Amino acid sequence: MNIAAIFRKQGLSLREKVSLRPFTTFKVGGPADYYFEPQNFLELARGIEILKNENIPIFLRGAGSNLLVRDGGIRGAVISLDAFDSLAFEGEFVRAEAGVPIARLLATCAEKGLSGLEFLAGVPATVGGAVRMNAGAFGKEIGDFVQELNIYHHGQFYTIPRTSLKCGYRYLDLPEEAIIVAVTLRLYPVSPTEVKEKLLFFLSQRKNKQPLNMPSAGCIFKNPAAASAGALIDHAGLKGFRCGGAEISRKHANFIVNCAGARASHILALIELAKERVLSLFGIELEEEIRVVGEG
Ligand code: EPU
Repeated sequence: MNIAAIFRKQGLSLREKVSLRPFTTFKVGGPADYYFEPQNFLELARGIEILKNENIPIFLRGAGSNLLVRDGGIRGAVISLDAFDSLAFEGEFVRAEAGVPIARLLATCAEKGLSGLEFLAGVPATVGGAVRMNAGAFGKEIGDFVQELNIYHHGQFYTIPRTSLKCGYRYLDLPEEAIIVAVTLRLYPVSPTEVKEKLLFFLSQRKNKQPLNMPSAGCIFKNPAAASAGALIDHAGLKGFRCGGAEISRKHANFIVNCAGARASHILALIELAKERVLSLFGIELEEEIRVVGEG
């Protein structure tokens, strides 16, 4: 029996040969063999069990905003948590399921007068993705606000309290296969107007410095110790450098933008170029912040 039929038999839906281009903010990448969007935690657990039994590799997708899928696509199953989209408020605590878009979380927190996460304004992530990589900006990180994590790992759901969490720069200490399904965040009660003003401030800061109007994956590289990857690539003279439809942004050199019809191979060539130039000119090794997956 093929995998989709096994899914159907269990009352689950599995799509086959799904282009990942619309599911990444870069708007590039080949197809996934399988695409699974569980509607609830139970479906997630059942689907993963089938995929594991069939030895199908699993790739979790958040908003696809920190992701580069190679042109040959993914030999395995992509799991989307988009249907995990509930938000619940209690005092200064908000419990958000992993698929909630950061933009919706911020807008709802603003209405309720809950402050803290405004620095994430304009980050096109999901809650699960942002927490998984401890997304940050303007000297703040989402990990500082996490009170509790709900994860799925090795067939079980667990709750991890704040005291057991270890976060670093763009890093959360969780096993590779652990899946964040929901997060409880602790924020600060203030007036809704104050939160909205802060959101607008951070969004305008980001718009001034970053090419938000073009498809990209945000910053490509992590900032090396005591330096800015953007400044290093800029000083290497690479702003505006092109390969096919991809370009090292003229606005912020740590962004690669898809000008029109870029392929993953074009973006990867620019990534290699930036790494080589920065290493040879400044002796600094840049490390990707984005996740690169799939076949070439
Ligand atoms: N700079 C240049 N040329 C450039 C870009 C930057 O000279 O092309 C200089 C700036 O003038 C500034 C310094 O480099 O003096 C730092 O630039 P910026 O303030 O833009 O911050 P960044 O270090 O490049 C970091 C995060 C961003 C986050 C901003 C906002 C990383 C890798 N990047 O950028 O995060 O939005 O701060 O605070 O940590 C992301 O993670 O995807 C991301 C974009």
